[in-house]
Amino acid sequence: MSVKLTIYPDECDAFGHLNQASYLALFERARWELLARGPGMDVFERAEVWPAVRRATIDYHAGVWPGDVLDFSTELVSRGRTSFTLRQRAVRDRDARLAATLETVFVCIDAEERPVPIPDAVLAALAAEPRRTPLPSGVTLAWDEAGQGGQVVVLLHGYPFDRSMWRDQLLGIHGHRLIALDMRGFGASDRGEGPLGVGDYADDVAALLDALAVQRAVVVGLSMGGYVALAFAERHRERLAGLVLMDTKATPDDEAGRKGRDDAIAAITTDGTTKPVAAMLEKLFAAETPAEVRERVLAMMQRATPTAMIAALGAMRDRPDRTDLLPQLAEIPALVLVGNEDRLTPPDANRFIAETLPGADFVLVEGAGHLPAMERPATVNEALQAFLDRVV
Ligand code: MLT
Repeated sequence: MSVKLTIYPDECDAFGHLNQASYLALFERARWELLARGPGMDVFERAEVWPAVRRATIDYHAGVWPGDVLDFSTELVSRGRTSFTLRQRAVRDRDARLAATLETVFVCIDAEERPVPIPDAVLAALAAEPRRTPLPSGVTLAWDEAGQGGQVVVLLHGYPFDRSMWRDQLLGIHGHRLIALDMRGFGASDRGEGPLGVGDYADDVAALLDALAVQRAVVVGLSMGGYVALAFAERHRERLAGLVLMDTKATPDDEAGRKGRDDAIAAITTDGTTKPVAAMLEKLFAAETPAEVRERVLAMMQRATPTAMIAALGAMRDRPDRTDLLPQLAEIPALVLVGNEDRLTPPDANRFIAETLPGADFVLVEGAGHLPAMERPATVNEALQAFLDRVV
Protein backbone atom coordinates (compact mmCIF):
# COMPACT_ATOMS: atom_id res chain seq x y z
CA MET A 1 0.00 0.00 0.00
CA SER A 2 1.32 3.41 -0.76
CA VAL A 3 1.17 6.48 1.42
CA LYS A 4 1.03 9.85 -0.32
CA LEU A 5 2.43 12.91 1.43
CA THR A 6 2.45 16.50 0.16
CA ILE A 7 5.67 18.49 0.55
CA TYR A 8 5.40 21.75 2.46
CA PRO A 9 7.64 24.82 2.01
CA ASP A 10 9.05 24.47 5.52
CA GLU A 11 10.44 21.03 4.57
CA CYS A 12 12.49 22.63 1.80
CA ASP A 13 15.84 24.42 2.00
CA ALA A 14 17.42 27.66 0.79
CA PHE A 15 17.56 26.25 -2.75
CA GLY A 16 13.84 25.65 -2.72
CA HIS A 17 13.83 21.86 -2.88
CA LEU A 18 13.04 19.19 -0.33
CA ASN A 19 15.89 19.15 2.14
CA GLN A 20 17.67 15.87 2.75
CA ALA A 21 17.22 16.30 6.50
CA SER A 22 13.44 16.37 6.03
CA TYR A 23 13.43 13.09 4.14
CA LEU A 24 14.01 10.90 7.19
CA ALA A 25 11.02 12.47 8.93
CA LEU A 26 8.83 11.93 5.87
CA PHE A 27 9.90 8.30 5.49
CA GLU A 28 9.17 7.80 9.17
CA ARG A 29 5.75 9.39 8.85
CA ALA A 30 4.96 7.05 5.94
CA ARG A 31 5.90 4.04 8.09
CA TRP A 32 3.68 5.14 10.96
CA GLU A 33 0.87 5.80 8.52
CA LEU A 34 1.20 2.23 7.25
CA LEU A 35 0.96 0.88 10.78
CA ALA A 36 -2.02 3.11 11.49
CA ARG A 37 -3.85 1.81 8.41
CA GLY A 38 -2.80 -1.80 9.02
CA PRO A 39 -2.17 -3.53 12.34
CA GLY A 40 -2.39 -0.33 14.43
CA MET A 41 0.31 2.06 15.57
CA ASP A 42 0.53 0.17 18.85
CA VAL A 43 1.52 -3.18 17.29
CA PHE A 44 4.97 -2.94 18.93
CA GLU A 45 3.64 -1.60 22.24
CA ARG A 46 1.21 -4.52 22.42
CA ALA A 47 4.11 -6.96 22.17
CA GLU A 48 6.22 -4.87 24.60
CA VAL A 49 8.98 -4.69 22.03
CA TRP A 50 10.41 -1.57 20.41
CA PRO A 51 12.03 -1.22 16.99
CA ALA A 52 15.36 0.60 17.37
CA VAL A 53 17.00 1.88 14.20
CA ARG A 54 20.53 0.50 13.84
CA ARG A 55 21.33 1.85 10.40
CA ALA A 56 19.62 4.04 7.79
CA THR A 57 20.97 4.39 4.25
CA ILE A 58 19.38 6.95 1.99
CA ASP A 59 19.87 7.55 -1.74
CA TYR A 60 18.58 10.62 -3.55
CA HIS A 61 17.59 10.38 -7.19
CA ALA A 62 15.48 13.42 -8.19
CA GLY A 63 14.53 16.83 -6.82
CA VAL A 64 11.25 17.50 -5.04
CA TRP A 65 9.58 20.91 -4.59
CA PRO A 66 6.90 22.44 -2.38
CA GLY A 67 3.50 21.17 -3.46
CA ASP A 68 4.92 17.97 -4.94
CA VAL A 69 3.26 14.78 -3.74
CA LEU A 70 5.52 11.85 -2.87
CA ASP A 71 4.20 8.32 -3.01
CA PHE A 72 5.92 6.18 -0.35
CA SER A 73 5.98 2.39 -0.56
CA THR A 74 7.50 0.08 2.03
CA GLU A 75 8.67 -3.52 1.74
CA LEU A 76 10.36 -5.95 4.04
CA VAL A 77 13.59 -7.04 2.37
CA SER A 78 15.15 -9.28 4.99
CA ARG A 79 14.80 -10.46 8.55
CA GLY A 80 16.88 -12.17 11.16
CA ARG A 81 15.89 -13.39 14.63
CA THR A 82 15.86 -9.96 16.26
CA SER A 83 16.35 -7.58 13.34
CA PHE A 84 14.67 -6.74 10.06
CA THR A 85 15.32 -4.44 7.12
CA LEU A 86 12.73 -2.29 5.40
CA ARG A 87 13.21 -0.66 2.02
CA GLN A 88 11.15 2.44 1.31
CA ARG A 89 10.80 4.21 -2.01
CA ALA A 90 9.55 7.76 -2.50
CA VAL A 91 8.21 8.34 -6.01
CA ARG A 92 7.17 11.75 -7.42
CA ASP A 93 3.48 11.48 -8.11
CA ARG A 94 3.42 13.91 -11.02
CA ASP A 95 5.83 11.95 -13.27
CA ALA A 96 6.39 8.62 -11.43
CA ARG A 97 10.14 9.37 -11.03
CA LEU A 98 11.95 7.77 -8.15
CA ALA A 99 12.97 10.60 -5.80
CA ALA A 100 14.71 8.68 -2.99
CA THR A 101 15.10 5.28 -1.39
CA LEU A 102 15.76 4.50 2.25
CA GLU A 103 16.92 1.20 3.68
CA THR A 104 16.55 0.92 7.42
CA VAL A 105 17.78 -1.86 9.68
CA PHE A 106 15.74 -2.22 12.88
CA VAL A 107 16.58 -4.26 15.96
CA CYS A 108 13.77 -5.27 18.30
CA ILE A 109 14.62 -4.44 21.91
CA ASP A 110 12.86 -4.85 25.22
CA ALA A 111 12.44 -2.27 28.00
CA GLU A 112 16.03 -2.97 29.16
CA GLU A 113 17.29 -2.30 25.63
CA ARG A 114 18.24 -5.96 25.08
CA PRO A 115 17.73 -7.44 21.60
CA VAL A 116 14.71 -9.76 21.59
CA PRO A 117 13.08 -11.90 18.88
CA ILE A 118 10.73 -10.12 16.50
CA PRO A 119 7.25 -10.77 17.95
CA ASP A 120 4.86 -12.95 15.93
CA ALA A 121 2.29 -10.18 15.66
CA VAL A 122 4.90 -7.86 14.19
CA LEU A 123 6.08 -10.48 11.73
CA ALA A 124 2.54 -11.15 10.63
CA ALA A 125 2.02 -7.41 10.25
CA LEU A 126 5.11 -7.15 8.11
CA ALA A 127 3.89 -10.16 6.14
CA ALA A 128 7.37 -11.61 6.32
CA GLU A 129 6.56 -15.16 7.22
CA PRO A 130 3.16 -16.68 6.63
CA ARG A 131 1.27 -18.67 9.17
CA ARG A 132 1.03 -22.34 8.26
CA THR A 133 -1.89 -24.65 8.94
CA PRO A 134 -1.83 -28.40 8.23
CA LEU A 135 -5.16 -29.61 6.86
CA PRO A 136 -6.67 -33.10 7.31
CA SER A 137 -5.83 -33.77 3.63
CA GLY A 138 -2.14 -33.69 4.61
CA VAL A 139 -1.54 -30.43 2.75
CA THR A 140 -0.23 -27.43 4.72
CA LEU A 141 -1.60 -24.06 3.63
CA ALA A 142 0.29 -20.79 4.17
CA TRP A 143 -1.62 -17.61 4.91
CA ASP A 144 -1.26 -14.05 6.14
CA GLU A 145 -3.64 -12.29 8.43
CA ALA A 146 -4.44 -8.68 9.24
CA GLY A 147 -7.09 -6.87 11.22
CA GLN A 148 -9.72 -8.03 13.64
CA GLY A 149 -13.42 -7.71 14.40
CA GLY A 150 -16.18 -7.52 11.79
CA GLN A 151 -16.19 -10.18 9.09
CA VAL A 152 -13.67 -12.92 8.43
CA VAL A 153 -12.62 -12.26 4.83
CA VAL A 154 -10.76 -14.89 2.79
CA LEU A 155 -8.80 -13.52 -0.16
CA LEU A 156 -8.09 -15.92 -3.05
CA HIS A 157 -5.41 -15.01 -5.55
CA GLY A 158 -5.43 -15.52 -9.32
CA TYR A 159 -3.14 -17.62 -11.53
CA PRO A 160 -0.15 -17.81 -11.27
CA PHE A 161 0.03 -15.45 -8.32
CA ASP A 162 0.17 -15.86 -4.56
CA ARG A 163 -1.11 -14.33 -1.34
CA SER A 164 1.23 -11.35 -1.67
CA MET A 165 -1.02 -9.87 -4.36
CA TRP A 166 -3.38 -8.80 -1.54
CA ARG A 167 -0.73 -6.79 0.33
CA ASP A 168 -2.52 -3.47 -0.17
CA GLN A 169 -5.82 -4.89 1.05
CA LEU A 170 -4.21 -6.36 4.19
CA LEU A 171 -2.71 -2.96 4.93
CA GLY A 172 -5.62 -0.80 3.88
CA ILE A 173 -8.87 -2.41 5.06
CA HIS A 174 -9.93 -1.94 8.66
CA GLY A 175 -12.32 -3.45 11.16
CA HIS A 176 -12.34 -6.95 9.63
CA ARG A 177 -10.15 -10.04 9.90
CA LEU A 178 -8.49 -10.55 6.52
CA ILE A 179 -6.93 -13.89 5.59
CA ALA A 180 -4.89 -14.08 2.37
CA LEU A 181 -3.91 -17.65 1.61
CA ASP A 182 -1.65 -19.34 -0.88
CA MET A 183 -3.63 -21.85 -2.86
CA ARG A 184 -2.14 -25.33 -3.08
CA GLY A 185 1.29 -25.33 -4.67
CA PHE A 186 1.56 -21.52 -4.86
CA GLY A 187 3.60 -19.29 -2.56
CA ALA A 188 4.46 -21.20 0.58
CA SER A 189 1.61 -23.76 0.46
CA ASP A 190 2.19 -27.45 -0.25
CA ARG A 191 1.33 -28.75 -3.68
CA GLY A 192 0.12 -32.19 -2.44
CA GLU A 193 -0.37 -35.02 -4.91
CA GLY A 194 -2.41 -35.73 -8.00
CA PRO A 195 -4.52 -33.58 -10.32
CA LEU A 196 -6.71 -30.85 -8.84
CA GLY A 197 -10.12 -29.39 -9.60
CA VAL A 198 -11.35 -25.94 -8.54
CA GLY A 199 -13.46 -27.82 -5.97
CA ASP A 200 -10.29 -29.08 -4.27
CA TYR A 201 -9.01 -25.54 -3.81
CA ALA A 202 -12.46 -24.58 -2.45
CA ASP A 203 -12.44 -27.52 -0.02
CA ASP A 204 -9.02 -26.33 1.20
CA VAL A 205 -10.62 -22.98 2.09
CA ALA A 206 -13.36 -24.74 4.05
CA ALA A 207 -10.77 -26.93 5.81
CA LEU A 208 -8.69 -23.87 6.74
CA LEU A 209 -11.81 -22.18 8.17
CA ASP A 210 -12.49 -25.36 10.18
CA ALA A 211 -8.94 -25.31 11.52
CA LEU A 212 -9.38 -21.66 12.54
CA ALA A 213 -12.81 -22.41 14.08
CA VAL A 214 -14.44 -19.92 11.73
CA GLN A 215 -17.97 -20.84 10.68
CA ARG A 216 -18.75 -18.21 8.00
CA ALA A 217 -16.61 -15.92 5.90
CA VAL A 218 -16.79 -13.42 3.08
CA VAL A 219 -14.90 -14.96 0.17
CA VAL A 220 -13.08 -12.66 -2.25
CA GLY A 221 -11.62 -14.19 -5.40
CA LEU A 222 -9.74 -12.68 -8.31
CA SER A 223 -9.82 -14.51 -11.64
CA MET A 224 -8.86 -18.12 -10.80
CA GLY A 225 -9.61 -17.12 -7.21
CA GLY A 226 -13.09 -16.21 -8.50
CA TYR A 227 -13.51 -19.68 -10.03
CA VAL A 228 -12.58 -21.12 -6.62
CA ALA A 229 -14.91 -18.70 -4.81
CA LEU A 230 -17.78 -19.87 -7.02
CA ALA A 231 -16.86 -23.51 -6.32
CA PHE A 232 -16.91 -22.61 -2.60
CA ALA A 233 -20.37 -21.05 -3.07
CA GLU A 234 -21.56 -24.26 -4.72
CA ARG A 235 -20.07 -26.67 -2.18
CA HIS A 236 -20.13 -24.71 1.09
CA ARG A 237 -22.94 -22.19 0.63
CA GLU A 238 -23.96 -22.19 4.29
CA ARG A 239 -20.50 -20.86 5.16
CA LEU A 240 -20.61 -17.94 2.75
CA ALA A 241 -21.30 -14.61 4.46
CA GLY A 242 -20.63 -12.61 1.29
CA LEU A 243 -19.08 -13.01 -2.13
CA VAL A 244 -16.73 -10.65 -3.94
CA LEU A 245 -15.73 -11.57 -7.49
CA MET A 246 -13.01 -9.64 -9.28
CA ASP A 247 -11.93 -9.96 -12.89
CA THR A 248 -13.30 -13.44 -13.34
CA LYS A 249 -15.86 -15.46 -15.31
CA ALA A 250 -18.84 -17.66 -14.47
CA THR A 251 -18.69 -19.44 -17.82
CA PRO A 252 -16.31 -22.33 -18.52
CA ASP A 253 -13.47 -22.41 -21.05
CA ASP A 254 -14.59 -22.89 -24.65
CA GLU A 255 -12.80 -25.36 -26.91
CA ALA A 256 -10.08 -22.88 -27.88
CA GLY A 257 -9.58 -21.99 -24.22
CA ARG A 258 -9.19 -25.65 -23.24
CA LYS A 259 -6.69 -26.17 -26.04
CA GLY A 260 -4.78 -23.10 -24.79
CA ARG A 261 -4.55 -24.71 -21.33
CA ASP A 262 -3.26 -27.97 -22.83
CA ASP A 263 -0.69 -26.08 -24.89
CA ALA A 264 0.46 -24.17 -21.81
CA ILE A 265 0.75 -27.41 -19.81
CA ALA A 266 2.84 -28.95 -22.63
CA ALA A 267 5.05 -25.83 -22.87
CA ILE A 268 5.67 -25.75 -19.10
CA THR A 269 6.37 -29.48 -19.02
CA THR A 270 9.01 -29.27 -21.74
CA ASP A 271 10.48 -25.75 -21.39
CA GLY A 272 9.51 -24.44 -17.95
CA THR A 273 7.41 -21.43 -17.01
CA THR A 274 9.34 -18.55 -18.63
CA LYS A 275 7.46 -18.30 -21.93
CA PRO A 276 3.91 -18.76 -20.57
CA VAL A 277 4.68 -16.17 -17.87
CA ALA A 278 6.02 -13.69 -20.44
CA ALA A 279 2.99 -14.24 -22.70
CA MET A 280 0.58 -13.62 -19.84
CA LEU A 281 2.48 -10.62 -18.51
CA GLU A 282 1.90 -8.75 -21.78
CA LYS A 283 -1.87 -8.89 -21.31
CA LEU A 284 -2.13 -8.14 -17.61
CA PHE A 285 -1.93 -4.39 -17.13
CA ALA A 286 -3.66 -1.15 -17.95
CA ALA A 287 -1.69 1.37 -19.99
CA GLU A 288 -1.02 3.51 -16.91
CA THR A 289 -0.03 0.75 -14.49
CA PRO A 290 3.21 1.88 -12.77
CA ALA A 291 6.48 0.04 -13.38
CA GLU A 292 6.72 -0.84 -9.70
CA VAL A 293 3.47 -2.84 -9.82
CA ARG A 294 4.54 -4.57 -13.04
CA GLU A 295 7.82 -5.57 -11.37
CA ARG A 296 6.04 -6.94 -8.30
CA VAL A 297 3.70 -9.00 -10.46
CA LEU A 298 6.54 -10.38 -12.58
CA ALA A 299 8.49 -11.37 -9.45
CA MET A 300 5.39 -13.11 -8.09
CA MET A 301 4.82 -15.02 -11.35
CA GLN A 302 8.47 -16.04 -11.50
CA ARG A 303 8.11 -17.59 -8.05
CA ALA A 304 5.31 -19.90 -9.25
CA THR A 305 6.48 -23.48 -9.70
CA PRO A 306 5.78 -25.59 -12.80
CA THR A 307 3.90 -28.19 -10.76
CA ALA A 308 1.58 -25.57 -9.21
CA MET A 309 0.94 -23.97 -12.60
CA ILE A 310 0.25 -27.27 -14.34
CA ALA A 311 -2.22 -28.35 -11.64
CA ALA A 312 -4.00 -24.97 -11.76
CA LEU A 313 -4.18 -24.98 -15.57
CA GLY A 314 -5.85 -28.41 -15.44
CA ALA A 315 -8.29 -27.21 -12.78
CA MET A 316 -9.21 -24.08 -14.76
CA ARG A 317 -9.57 -26.07 -18.01
CA ASP A 318 -12.02 -28.47 -16.39
CA ARG A 319 -14.03 -25.99 -14.32
CA PRO A 320 -17.79 -26.24 -14.82
CA ASP A 321 -20.23 -23.56 -15.94
CA ARG A 322 -21.46 -21.65 -12.86
CA THR A 323 -24.04 -19.53 -14.67
CA ASP A 324 -26.95 -21.48 -13.19
CA LEU A 325 -25.52 -21.14 -9.70
CA LEU A 326 -25.59 -17.34 -9.70
CA PRO A 327 -29.40 -16.81 -9.38
CA GLN A 328 -29.41 -19.33 -6.52
CA LEU A 329 -27.16 -17.06 -4.44
CA ALA A 330 -29.90 -14.45 -3.96
CA GLU A 331 -29.48 -14.28 -0.18
CA ILE A 332 -25.70 -13.75 -0.31
CA PRO A 333 -24.47 -10.12 -0.37
CA ALA A 334 -22.27 -9.78 -3.44
CA LEU A 335 -19.95 -7.36 -5.15
CA VAL A 336 -18.35 -7.65 -8.60
CA LEU A 337 -15.33 -5.55 -9.59
CA VAL A 338 -13.36 -5.45 -12.80
CA GLY A 339 -10.62 -3.32 -14.34
CA ASN A 340 -11.93 -1.34 -17.32
CA GLU A 341 -8.84 -2.43 -19.29
CA ASP A 342 -8.95 -6.12 -18.36
CA ARG A 343 -8.19 -8.12 -21.51
CA LEU A 344 -8.16 -11.58 -19.90
CA THR A 345 -11.54 -11.53 -18.14
CA PRO A 346 -13.11 -8.46 -19.77
CA PRO A 347 -15.63 -6.08 -18.19
CA ASP A 348 -18.55 -7.66 -20.09
CA ALA A 349 -17.94 -11.10 -18.52
CA ASN A 350 -18.02 -9.48 -15.09
CA ARG A 351 -21.03 -7.26 -15.87
CA PHE A 352 -22.81 -10.47 -16.86
CA ILE A 353 -22.04 -11.97 -13.45
CA ALA A 354 -23.29 -8.84 -11.67
CA GLU A 355 -26.52 -8.89 -13.70
CA THR A 356 -27.12 -12.59 -13.04
CA LEU A 357 -26.19 -12.55 -9.35
CA PRO A 358 -29.26 -11.08 -7.62
CA GLY A 359 -28.58 -7.80 -5.82
CA ALA A 360 -24.87 -7.73 -6.68
CA ASP A 361 -23.15 -4.36 -6.86
CA PHE A 362 -20.88 -3.69 -9.81
CA VAL A 363 -17.76 -1.51 -9.82
CA LEU A 364 -15.77 -0.76 -12.96
CA VAL A 365 -12.25 0.14 -11.81
CA GLU A 366 -10.89 2.82 -14.11
CA GLY A 367 -7.22 2.60 -15.04
CA ALA A 368 -6.84 -1.07 -14.10
CA GLY A 369 -6.26 -4.19 -16.18
CA HIS A 370 -6.56 -7.75 -14.82
CA LEU A 371 -5.23 -6.91 -11.35
CA PRO A 372 -7.15 -3.93 -9.93
CA ALA A 373 -6.28 -4.97 -6.35
CA MET A 374 -2.64 -4.19 -7.17
CA GLU A 375 -3.02 -1.61 -9.92
CA ARG A 376 -5.67 0.56 -8.24
CA PRO A 377 -5.61 -0.46 -4.58
CA ALA A 378 -7.22 2.74 -3.28
CA THR A 379 -10.32 2.29 -5.47
CA VAL A 380 -10.58 -1.42 -4.68
CA ASN A 381 -10.11 -0.88 -0.95
CA GLU A 382 -12.77 1.82 -0.86
CA ALA A 383 -15.30 -0.47 -2.57
CA LEU A 384 -14.34 -3.50 -0.47
CA GLN A 385 -14.36 -1.58 2.80
CA ALA A 386 -17.84 -0.18 2.10
CA PHE A 387 -19.10 -3.64 1.10
CA LEU A 388 -17.64 -5.40 4.16
CA ASP A 389 -18.97 -2.73 6.52
CA ARG A 390 -22.51 -3.38 5.40
CA VAL A 391 -22.40 -7.20 5.29
CA VAL A 392 -24.06 -8.52 8.43
C1 MLT B 1 -6.03 -15.70 -13.53
O1 MLT B 1 -5.59 -14.56 -13.42
O2 MLT B 1 -6.32 -16.38 -12.55
C2 MLT B 1 -6.16 -16.29 -14.92
O3 MLT B 1 -6.06 -15.29 -15.88
C3 MLT B 1 -7.47 -17.01 -15.07
C4 MLT B 1 -7.57 -17.79 -16.35
O4 MLT B 1 -6.57 -18.05 -16.99
O5 MLT B 1 -8.71 -18.14 -16.71
